[in-house]
Amino acid sequence: MKILITGANGMLAKAVKERLKTHELVCTDVTELDITNKEEVCKYVEQLKPECIINCAAYTAVDKAEEEYDLAEKINADGPRNLAIAARQNNVTLVHVSTDYVFDGELEINKEYIENNETRPVTVYGITKLHGEEAVKENCNKYYIFRTAWLYGDGNNFVRTMLKLGKEKEEINVVADQHGSPTYAVDLADIIANAIEKNIPYGIYHATNEGYTTWYEFAKKIFEIAKIDCKVNPVTSEEFIRPAKRPKNSKLSKEKLKSVAIQVPLWEEALSRYISM
Ligand SMILES: NC(=O)c1ccc[n+]([C@@H]2O[C@H](COP(=O)([O-])OP(=O)(O)OC[C@H]3O[C@@H](n4cnc5c(N)ncnc54)[C@H](O)[C@@H]3O)[C@@H](O)[C@H]2O)c1
Repeated sequence: MKILITGANGMLAKAVKERLKTHELVCTDVTELDITNKEEVCKYVEQLKPECIINCAAYTAVDKAEEEYDLAEKINADGPRNLAIAARQNNVTLVHVSTDYVFDGELEINKEYIENNETRPVTVYGITKLHGEEAVKENCNKYYIFRTAWLYGDGNNFVRTMLKLGKEKEEINVVADQHGSPTYAVDLADIIANAIEKNIPYGIYHATNEGYTTWYEFAKKIFEIAKIDCKVNPVTSEEFIRPAKRPKNSKLSKEKLKSVAIQVPLWEEALSRYISM
């Protein structure tokens, strides 16, 4: 299958390229194909004639986005809109990646978000990512939107930060009242690949590793697996204020994914694989 990957230098894209390497991949990042340029995107897709586009491009600086609405909107909403228009014009399947930040995170902590729960983003990043989802839905029919969360892989991420801090410090404070699923980019790439290879029904899917935890428990597990002796102190979100508010509940139900026979590994098992790499 001929597949166009946009944002191909990013963390998720690296895993996607590896997982799909037996296909004919055309990999572009902003210097080769700027997804915010509608004319360029439409021309590129028309000439290339891929069967599928996987959009890994995004504005992902969650805190900085609070001061850069226009740029975040351009990359996270206008970009996917351009890709969706080009996909529809050329009868191409579009894979787009979104986030738990489209929800406000205020759902009761023992409940999980399902795909058609009401969205209510409370950060600039979340608002622009929701606009991206809407733009895809409005402009093409053959699309997959995968909402993921707490992503780590070959790029800057929480696990790398903890491994570095754990070696430098005797103790660290980590937020213990935000709940979600750490997600290994390799496993998300596998979900994306399975979706397009198995032709699962189009639509929105929640796609994270299985199981739920907190950032505090996640940090403890990282140190346990990596055999790092660093004490982790639980703190509250109120003690760790960030420019963009973090959702307390980021639990994304995987029932829909499972209903199309896609199984996802548990987050602890995925983390062991990542650290032992
Ligand atoms: N990192 C996380 O924790 C997380 C959590 C939930 C959802 N997501 C989503 O997962 C997806 C992948 O995230 P990631 O962490 O791999 O991102 P990343 O920041 O590592 O990579 C994004 C890539 O997009 C490229 N890019 C930026 N503007 C572009 C443009 N105009 N045209 C073309 N390319 C452009 C960048 O150069 C970069 O290579 C994104 O949609 C993101 O919103 C990430």
